[in-house]
Amino acid sequence: MKKPILVANWKNHPESLRAVTPILTGLSRKSAVYKKLSTFIAPPLVYIEAVSSKIKSFAGLAGQDIFFAMEGTYTGAVTPDILKSFGVKLTIIGHSERRALGETNEVAAAKVKTALRSGITPLLCIGEEARDAEGNYFEFLSEELKLSLEGIRRKDDAHKLIIAYEPIWAIGKKAKDAMPPADLAQMVIFIKKVLTEIFGRESAERIPILYGGSVESGNANELVATGVQGFLVGHASLDPKNFSEIAEALL
Ligand code: PGA
Repeated sequence: MKKPILVANWKNHPESLRAVTPILTGLSRKSAVYKKLSTFIAPPLVYIEAVSSKIKSFAGLAGQDIFFAMEGTYTGAVTPDILKSFGVKLTIIGHSERRALGETNEVAAAKVKTALRSGITPLLCIGEEARDAEGNYFEFLSEELKLSLEGIRRKDDAHKLIIAYEPIWAIGKKAKDAMPPADLAQMVIFIKKVLTEIFGRESAERIPILYGGSVESGNANELVATGVQGFLVGHASLDPKNFSEIAEALL
């Protein structure tokens, strides 16, 4: 049985390098808990070196995004080899906040391929904007997942993927606004079904599905019991106490 996965998505926080230190100090107090999980921290890129030296013994370093090209000249870009040289092992791809800036499923698929080629684990995010009584979001999610994995069919690639289901309407709220556990359990089954259509049952079963969207210490326990193999945590990951309680819920 693989370890549960816990990924901290710091987004564009905290507001300065100085504010990173207390977070890292807080995290390291619970290093024993994080070591029992596959824990990753995805800080803003410019903080990566400061973070990596402090989390080495209990968490891996993750990117919040990956550039789609491996080589070439691109002003402003950070290519995968640079990320790798700083020890980045996993990267978030297709986060809804990037999709809102115009990132398409095609771009997400290119990034998944680039990550696989570079030996960085792709954590692909999918999630519907809203729920409707007709259940149109099922179709939306199926298409988003299939198109974001377009061209990836090899079993050994499939076995390196991680999917994060993050309904957009549940992101950045309070614990009470996260997805109800019964609905999440249904979505996990649905996502597995779509992955089975793409990769076949045996490979689909091996792909971890994480949940993200207002995971906090107050709801982590009930969300664990839905079949998810971990969490992608935004705002609560900047609060060491809250984050460590989420980690404990996964044990
Ligand atoms: P949240 O963010 O935990 O603040 O809802 C999750 C995410 O956007 O990855």
